Amino acid sequence: MRPEGTTISADPAPVIELIEAFRRSKTMFAAVSLGVFEGNRDLGAAGDRLLDACVALGLLRREGGAYVNTAVSEEYLTLASPRTLAGYVLYSNRALYPMWAHLEDAVREGGHRWSQTFGSEGPLFSSFFATPQATRTFLQGMHGFGVLSSPAVVRAFDLSGFRRMVDLGGGTGHLVEAAMEGYPGLSAAVFDLPEVVAVARELARAGLEFLAGDFFEDELPEADLFALGQILHDWSADKIALLLRRIWERLPPRGGLLIAERLLEPGAVAAHMQSLNMLVCTEGRERTAEQYRELLEAAGFGDVRWKVTGTVRDAVLARKV
Ligand SMILES: C[S@@+](CC[C@H](N)C(=O)[O-])C[C@H]1O[C@@H](n2cnc3c(N)ncnc32)[C@H](O)[C@@H]1O
Repeated sequence: MRPEGTTISADPAPVIELIEAFRRSKTMFAAVSLGVFEGNRDLGAAGDRLLDACVALGLLRREGGAYVNTAVSEEYLTLASPRTLAGYVLYSNRALYPMWAHLEDAVREGGHRWSQTFGSEGPLFSSFFATPQATRTFLQGMHGFGVLSSPAVVRAFDLSGFRRMVDLGGGTGHLVEAAMEGYPGLSAAVFDLPEVVAVARELARAGLEFLAGDFFEDELPEADLFALGQILHDWSADKIALLLRRIWERLPPRGGLLIAERLLEPGAVAAHMQSLNMLVCTEGRERTAEQYRELLEAAGFGDVRWKVTGTVRDAVLARKV
């Protein structure tokens, strides 16, 4: 406490903004969840207050007596838009928001909050994929971010020397799609858990190749370039070492590993928030480029390069040396 009469010189704006920030997030979550951007106006007793708040946030505008979507909500918050982030909003509302309420416990104990929040037990991704609808929502969410970043990730390095790419834990295949578009000579496939492949196929572009399996246990398919998009940040250091070693063993000499993750740099607020997010919902964390290099070199990889893409995911490329 400052003694009475001391001049207060620090601007309170950052603190006030952070007190209020979660209200903005939750307003958007509730609006998506209640179907506001799909045109639902039958919202109940305080519906007008939510709609007006969406206007204030720039997500709706008034036209005559009606509320209509703005360009940004039409593109990113409607379910049918090819660039929708509504899946990630719904996943955030259903799963992340309640788990973040236990952030103090996560920090103290150093582990995710699935069990504390939802009573879920078992392997990590059985919590993400508790029901087919939860699986769909999560995959749609990852897809939305992937569409925004995968073209930049595959352009971060020249991949034209590779012939066959397999994206391990590739979800809906946005990285595979971007890679095949960027490198017409490349054949590529998604490898993911069987229960995920069944749902991802429905969401993915027709004709994408899907392979079902467990990257910790099953034989990895043949490839001279493996990809890991937002996979390493899910797992403990031991599991990462196991996975990287399995990939290294499966690759031919000079084979590649392309990693799409957000690189943690000092002051990179979104990456630090993402690292706390990984704390509450996974076994993992975000890392700096140097930390990825150390993990990769410990598994036998070399020639490690990285690039900040300016999108929601950065890129790292390593070679089997
Ligand atoms: C965070 S998501 C990333 C999805 C996708 N790579 C992307 O960037 O959008 C993690 C993915 O890893 C998959 N996954 C988790 N455990 C796996 C395992 N043991 N074997 C194969 N895939 C797994 C999940 O099903 C999910 O699709």
